[in-house]
Amino acid sequence: MKIIIINGVNLNLLGQREPHIYGNKGYDELCKDIISEAERLAVEVKIVQSNVEGEIVNFIHQAQGKYDGIIINPGAYTHYSYAIYDALKSVDVPAVEVHLSNIHSREEFRKNSVVAPACIGQISGFGTYGYIMALHAIIHR
Ligand code: DQA
Repeated sequence: MKIIIINGVNLNLLGQREPHIYGNKGYDELCKDIISEAERLAVEVKIVQSNVEGEIVNFIHQAQGKYDGIIINPGAYTHYSYAIYDALKSVDVPAVEVHLSNIHSREEFRKNSVVAPACIGQISGFGTYGYIMALHAIIHR
């Protein structure tokens, strides 16, 4: 099984960025945690990050026929990117949406995810552990 993990805008600043919300763990550490769990589960993972909406769309397109699942945290694009929604709908690869913070307990604008209807489910509020949960969710699907 092959899974692509797509991180969107501002997630490269994990660890420095509002640590009271997103935690102290840096982006590299998050990647290491995902890779070590993937090895334990014998799943192949690729992790990518971009601050550019179109690049995220390209990553989703490239998943078609190559990956069995997508784990995506689009960052703030979650709340307004119909392009990412359309891209997820355009490929035949199941996607799980992940957020470090609980988007439902924060500002009003974060409560709506426009990408959620294109995903099989959403994991929100469990910090970096959400990515581990998402790996399990795709494998056990
Ligand atoms: C986030 C939540 C978004 O609202 C925010 O814009 C982010 C991170 C999260 O992982 O909690 O950049 O996706």
